[in-house]
Amino acid sequence: MSAPPLLQVEDLRLSFGGVTAVDGLSFTVDEGDILSVIGPNGAGKTSAFNCITGFYKPTGGKVSLDGEDITRLRPSAVAAKGVSRTFQNLRLFGELTVLDNVRAGMHLRIKQNAIDALLHTPRFRKSERIATEEAHKWLDFVGLRGDRAAEARNLPYGEQRRVEIARALARGPRLLLLDEPAAGLNHGEKNELLDLLGRIRELGIALVLIEHDMGLVMQVSRRIVVLNFGKEIADGTPEQVRNDPAVVEAYLGTEDETPAGPAHAEEEIS
Ligand SMILES: Nc1ncnc2c1ncn2[C@@H]1O[C@H](COP(=O)(O)OP(=O)(O)O)[C@@H](O)[C@H]1O
Ligand SMILES: [Mg+2]
Repeated sequence: MSAPPLLQVEDLRLSFGGVTAVDGLSFTVDEGDILSVIGPNGAGKTSAFNCITGFYKPTGGKVSLDGEDITRLRPSAVAAKGVSRTFQNLRLFGELTVLDNVRAGMHLRIKQNAIDALLHTPRFRKSERIATEEAHKWLDFVGLRGDRAAEARNLPYGEQRRVEIARALARGPRLLLLDEPAAGLNHGEKNELLDLLGRIRELGIALVLIEHDMGLVMQVSRRIVVLNFGKEIADGTPEQVRNDPAVVEAYLGTEDETPAGPAHAEEEIS
């Protein structure tokens, strides 16, 4: 028997009252794989991420990690199993420093004993030192240029996006879900993102990407799932998806759907 896929999403469904946001979505992600989920605004992409990561309880269907059912787990439990994510609208702790934002990503992994912390024992200082070194390492990895002692909210938008990715990586994920990582980035930053995605993949971390930038999606993805009105209308290689008439009609053929920028809340009702 072959091993189960890293992530398996089966017939995922989510309704908000009368609105069906996700309508029977199924796909799998293998270890080290890179998959993109595309589709027009309101297609249900972020909702699907929220179901996979425990932020929403799906109305139906199943999410499994290594064959283990994780559908009803809380976000923290899903994260502890090795699934990290970023958000379409950033969710940094604005008043914490850049470095502390990334260190906060590690508290799941580096167990701290309350007594050690209270007494500032050598063991506590050592774990603090390791956390700080690791945070610097991830900030280097994402290519952060800004001041690491600055409050996160004072960094330019593109830099804040890097901090979010660094924080997600600091959790030590096997699977990383990125919700529109290129949104609001300039051309140079997009190229750097492309390079970063390649390096994340080299670490053996599987990626699922929600992205509107078709150039980036076509370059980076091994497979693409296309959603429209919550339904999956295509699943294939970039080449297959690009030439699929249903996709062209639903998405690629329409005007540029790129959202205007960071102000778009994922909770927004369109
Ligand atoms: N918290 C929510 N409450 C009510 N409706 C929601 C909520 N989140 C998303 N929706 C609705 O679900 C649908 C899919 O939204 P979303 O998943 O954000 O799409 P996408 O990320 O593809 O743009 C939209 O019709 C949206 O209005
Ligand atoms: Mg979205």
